Formats: sequence, C-alpha cells, structure tokens
Amino acid sequence: MHGAVNISGSKNAALPILAATLLTDEPCVLRRVPNLSDTRFMVRILESLGAEVSFKNGTVKVHAKKISGFADYELVRKMRGSICIAGPLLARLKTARVSLPGGCIIGARPINLHLKGFAALGAKIKIEGGYVDATAKKLKGGTMFLGGRAGSTVLGTANVMMAATLAEGVTVIESAACEPEVVDLAHFLNAMGANIAGAGSPTITITGVAKLHGAEHEVIPDRIEAVTFAVAAAATNGEVTIHGARAEHFRAVIDKLEEANVLVQRSGSSLVVRRKGALKAADITTLPYSGFPTDAQAQMMSLFTLAKGTSIITERIFESRFMHVSELTRMGADIEIEGPSAIVKGGRPLSGAPVMASDLRASAALVIAGMAASGETQVNRIYHLDRGYEQMDVKLRGLGAKIQRVQEK
Ligand code: EPZ
Repeated sequence: MHGAVNISGSKNAALPILAATLLTDEPCVLRRVPNLSDTRFMVRILESLGAEVSFKNGTVKVHAKKISGFADYELVRKMRGSICIAGPLLARLKTARVSLPGGCIIGARPINLHLKGFAALGAKIKIEGGYVDATAKKLKGGTMFLGGRAGSTVLGTANVMMAATLAEGVTVIESAACEPEVVDLAHFLNAMGANIAGAGSPTITITGVAKLHGAEHEVIPDRIEAVTFAVAAAATNGEVTIHGARAEHFRAVIDKLEEANVLVQRSGSSLVVRRKGALKAADITTLPYSGFPTDAQAQMMSLFTLAKGTSIITERIFESRFMHVSELTRMGADIEIEGPSAIVKGGRPLSGAPVMASDLRASAALVIAGMAASGETQVNRIYHLDRGYEQMDVKLRGLGAKIQRVQEK
C-alpha cells in the first residue's frame, strides 16, 4: 500500500456524544461524525425517543426538545453501545426504561457497573422483562468506585458521568476509564454547561448543575481506524501517510509497532508508517487506556503472523475475543490459544481463502491478512466492518489495495 489516507471521526466518541444531546431541550450540532451503521443507528434511536435529527456530510444536528424515556428492545438489541442513552434519560427525565443489551460474541459484557453508578446517585433500579428501569425522584451526587473484573469501564464511566451532570451536589467517580473518548465526551458536556473535572484521569469529579444548554462540538479522530491503517501499511510492506490522526491517543500501539521494527514517523500533523526492515515478533497484553487497546489486538495478530518468531498476545479485557484465530489459521497462520493468550508462531506465508468475519475488529484483521496473503481472500459478513469503518474499501483502494465489495451469494 502506498499513498495517503484521511482518518474519520471516532465511532466510540460519537456514540456517547450523540446520546448526550438528550440531556438538553436545545439544539446541538456535532461535526466529524463518521457515517457508519452504528452512528446511523444511534440517530434512529434518538428519533425513536422523539428527537429531531439530521445527518449530512459528517454533521449531525439534534434537537431533543421533547423526549420519552423508553428505548425499545428491537432497536437497542442491534447495538450494545446504545446503552449509553440510559444516563442522559435518567438525568433529564428522572426515569429511563431501556432494553438490556443482549449477548456479544467477544464477551459477556454485563452492565452491572453502569447500574451500580446510577444506584449510587439515588436511582431505583429494577430489571424486568429484559428491560432495566431506572427511576429517581431526584439524583444526588455521591462517590462511587467503578472498577470491575477487567478494570475500568468506558461506557459505564460515560453513562454515570452523563447522569451526574444534572444531579444535586458533587459526584466523584473513582477507577474511571481514561480513554480519549471519555475525555471528548466530557469536553462536549462542559460545552453544554456541565461542570466536569479530571476526565482522562482515574478520578472524575462532576458538580451537578440545574440545566444544560445546546452546544457545538467536533468529534476526535478515530484512533482505532488510524491504528488499523498503520498496521495495514506494515503488513503489506508499503508506506502510508495518515492524515488527521492524534498519535498521542495510541502511544501504546506505536510503541509495539516500533518493537516490531515498524517506523511510525511524525511529519507535520501526519504520520508516515513503513517497515524499518524485517518484521519482528513481540508480546502484547491488552489493558484499559493508556495500555494497549483491545480494539487493536486482532489487527496486530495479523501482523505478527508475518513476523519471524513467536509473539504472545494476551487478551485481558474481553474473555472471548479470539474469533479471528481460526480464520487466520485457515489462511495458513500458526496460532494456538492457551487460556487468555494466543501464541503466534509467525513467518509462514499466508495464502488467500474464503473467511468469515465474526466482529468488527476481527473483520479488519482479516482484510489486512487478505492484503498480505498470496492469491484471493473473500471476507464474508462485512456488515461487521461497516459498523466501525467509514468506506474502508474505498480508502484502501486509494492506497493501491485490490479490494472489491461483492454481493454475498
Ligand atoms: C467500549 O465498550 C468500546 N465500545 C469497545 O469497542 C471497547 O472494546 C471497550 O470499550 C474497551 O475499550 C464503545 O465505546 C461503543 P467496557 P464498553 O465497559 O464500554 C467489563 C469496538 O470494537 N464490564 O470498558 O462496552 C466488560 O465485560 C468496541 O469498537 C463489566 O464487568 O466496554 C469488559 O470485560 C468493541 N461490567 C470490561 O469491563 C460493566 O458494567 C471493559 O468493558 C461494564 C463492563
């Protein structure tokens, strides 16, 4: 791959920020919102709650003048991220009835920490008929510890932070998630008149206010999309310039790429990525931010199948996020799973094959492997890819990839 690519806005920042527009009855304008099935879905959920929404050329205008507090199973079940409407509804209406998100292929993904946070603000929580009912006469600030089995929770922190913006008094979230997407949400909420301090650190303090107003905001670039293109450049032994990414949001990945003998060089506000020589093996353990992101694990595994030597990839965030292993093995990779780790014996050339995408990041890993393999690869169920990558095939073709979207038989 050769050439330059522009990074889109962040899916995982846009989803809670879209939900946050429910906190006010005044108009909000969001820019650089990626056009993805997930963001279009969140727009449908906002409309189902009564908000007026327009989405054009990356700009979303939302006016949640009058809204209901009920989000239907048929809508919510299709996208787990929609759970983050619960906090804004509870804060604004003092009641939220939201379908519990169903199972997910990468892990159980409970929402107990979200509910723990709401209860600490004084909400009564009832789970019935597949729905969570959260109600409160009034929300009152409190101190809560939101660390769980795998450490902090990203959407849990976002949900509770949004609920606390209109609570009486001060809320302190301890063991809060520090992801850049949480910081971007806090920036938007403060632009709406909230009073949030400490976002980006494990302790976030929210001083409740009586009302929030409309605001404008530009969503941060998608760090996982940027990482995916960086890995693809290295896997195909090309040279790619990445425009519009913020390297400080994925330092842990840059560090591992350098260990794998890949150069990630700043050039003005862009990054140039290419190999420094033969790829090297390295070990990875996924962790909450600022550790190595679980959303880049699969892509890096594809890269390590090409590097001579043994790489051990340990997944500490989601208990079953190795669905891509069997598909990479179909392409000739040598990978064994042992408990939370995958042992990748790299250096064996990959050969193209029909493979099945199981989730968003696994699908990106298979596209990368397909570009590095000999012959043709057919990645099926790419609706997973379209959930989180804006026009991935168009951008890749712009970098010289031979990739075509075809109708599944
Ligand atoms: C966000 O999911 C992202 N999704 C995920 O990205 C990402 O993988 C994840 O954070 C971790 O970085 C969005 O932002 C929309 P968590 P989230 O709550 O918030 C456990 C992608 O590919 N947990 O931080 O749902 C949970 O089971 C997606 O773009 C509890 O036990 O993840 C997991 O093991 C996939 N109880 C761990 O914490 C809770 O109440 C981290 O999950 C909540 C979470």
